[in-house]
Amino acid sequence: MSNRWVRGAATRQPCSTIGRVIEEAGPAAVETASASSEGIALFRDFVLADLHHLAAFSFVAILAVEIALVRPGLDAATIKRLGRIDLAFGIAAVCVLAAGSARVVYGIKGPAYYLGNWVFWTKMAVFALIGFLSLWPTLRILAWKRVLKTDPEALPAAEEIRQIRRVIHVEATLALLMPILGAAMARGYGLP
Ligand code: HEM
Repeated sequence: MSNRWVRGAATRQPCSTIGRVIEEAGPAAVETASASSEGIALFRDFVLADLHHLAAFSFVAILAVEIALVRPGLDAATIKRLGRIDLAFGIAAVCVLAAGSARVVYGIKGPAYYLGNWVFWTKMAVFALIGFLSLWPTLRILAWKRVLKTDPEALPAAEEIRQIRRVIHVEATLALLMPILGAAMARGYGLP
């Protein structure tokens, strides 16, 4: 398999014992073995990419739902729903991070391809910033729910709702950068 996808990609070495046995078995065995191990590596990369995309699109979709719900005129029932939706957002973020990290470590390009790439670290910094910003809406939604438990009429002020809505908008704008940075690093931009 040629390094057809990018410039200066890291290459992976087969496990020595198995490699020696296959080599002793002759060129046809080597050919078959490398084809199947490449096939396995490609399939693993395909599965990790799917998991990453499913988590990433869920992450962005939930942000869109939060923007649709967090607006002045918010009622008690919606605040309760927001608690569950915001929990789903947290779970999606953990899934994006886990699948993304698995792509770095077990993906077909290997960790060296990403760890030396400034676009990758920019993507990580933007993701961390989204995570940090999301703490504010999460803590406010939890506080709104707590207050409603003692006083079902105690809804948050319109100005506070507008503030939280602005924060979620900033998160969503930053999230739009993630696929752009993903596509850039997938094509070798940012490599030394
Ligand atoms: C909201 C968060 C994220 C979104 C929307 C996102 C989106 C994407 C997209 C669309 C791609 C495919 C790019 C392409 O093949 O053209 C991609 C690739 C990738 N992403 Fe993410 N991503 C996110 C977070 C992360 C995180 C947190 C990590 C690492 C921990 C990560 C690691 C990767 C890796 C390793 C690739 C593969 C690039 C390649 O093919 O070489 N992503 N991402």
